[in-house]
Amino acid sequence: SGETVAAGDAWWRTQCRDQLLALGEQATPRYVYHLPTVRKQARELKTLASVDRLHYAVKANTHPAILRALAEEGFGFECVSPGELKAVMATVPESAPLLFTPNFAPREDYVWALSTRATVSLDSLYPLEHWGEVFRGREIVLRVDLGRGLGHHEKVRTGGSGSKFGLPVEHVDAFLRLADAHGVTVRGLHAHLGSGILDDKHWGEVYNQLASLAERIGSVAFLDIGGGLGVPSHPGEAQLDIAALEEVLRKVKGAYPHYQLWMEPGRYLVADAGVLITRVTQQKGKGSWRYLGVDTGMNSLIRPALYDAWHEIVNLTRLDEPATALYQVVGPICESGDVIGSDRRLPEAKEGDVMLIAQAGAYGKVMSSPYNLRDEAEEIIIE
Ligand code: LLP
Repeated sequence: SGETVAAGDAWWRTQCRDQLLALGEQATPRYVYHLPTVRKQARELKTLASVDRLHYAVKANTHPAILRALAEEGFGFECVSPGELKAVMATVPESAPLLFTPNFAPREDYVWALSTRATVSLDSLYPLEHWGEVFRGREIVLRVDLGRGLGHHEKVRTGGSGSKFGLPVEHVDAFLRLADAHGVTVRGLHAHLGSGILDDKHWGEVYNQLASLAERIGSVAFLDIGGGLGVPSHPGEAQLDIAALEEVLRKVKGAYPHYQLWMEPGRYLVADAGVLITRVTQQKGKGSWRYLGVDTGMNSLIRPALYDAWHEIVNLTRLDEPATALYQVVGPICESGDVIGSDRRLPEAKEGDVMLIAQAGAYGKVMSSPYNLRDEAEEIIIE
């Protein structure tokens, strides 16, 4: 296992603390993204010498400055909708590789994506059964379901029965017959089992399984072993050990050296690079509970409500004061699920204090909503 999280040296706690406080005193809610952290994460992944191509899974955060920074680092881009593809194409240089990996997309999405330079993936029989003419003569990627899912929460596991993703391996022969009939070539195989995986062995197993399937197919040139690289959220949780991951990948690639290895991480690149800042509105005692209200909630960051995700919360105004209160930190939204953090030990807070919600760079702003018509969080970039 890797090193444990050194929460004490996060960029927001050290060099950017005063800047964040000033930003919060000006206006909230605000998402703030720290580009040097995005670049640091990108460079760490670039040490994976066995990986031939890294694509950023843009669903995690589509801010143009982040897309540009990752294009500069040499990343390609994995997109799941025409909207994502358009946002990427409007922002990054034409040389950046693009993947289009939708799920249950309508026919017209494929028609349009095939008119771009994106590499398109299919994950069911239906498109070839019903829209074969759309794919005639094309090279495509086949996403398979390896029969199991992984990840930080049941709702983010994307494999196995109960998951809507991927073509079951037992349907691959039927897919190949359809592909043959329509002059379609399977150039790549793809599997993504879920999000928030901290076990470095996982991607080696996926490579092995895809490689043995590719041996059967014959036309395959690359294996995309997905994203899902986790970042620890609770203090003390072990980080993904990138050097150990490289060791795993080097070994499996040694057994099947004739395939290019592709990956498509999202969270790993941006989670720690973003924070959400918000201000204290009111407090309330109710039974044995103390509620600390802030000016945004599940409308800006839905992960705690949706996955019971744990985000560190600090009072930026009182970072050095002792944590003597036990708070339920809640937003202003009309649902009991609008809790950003339960049972948090924090300094006694006052109205107007600037609070920071950490690790909000991935699946934060992109999953926000206009619910209750509360102001949406503005996004700010720190270069
Ligand atoms: N590739 C595919 C096909 C995916 O579906 C995903 C994520 C990724 C790559 C990138 O996964 P990552 O490296 O970011 O784990 N909203 C949830 C996460 C959902 C992930 C959806 N697919 C969350 O906030 O935890």
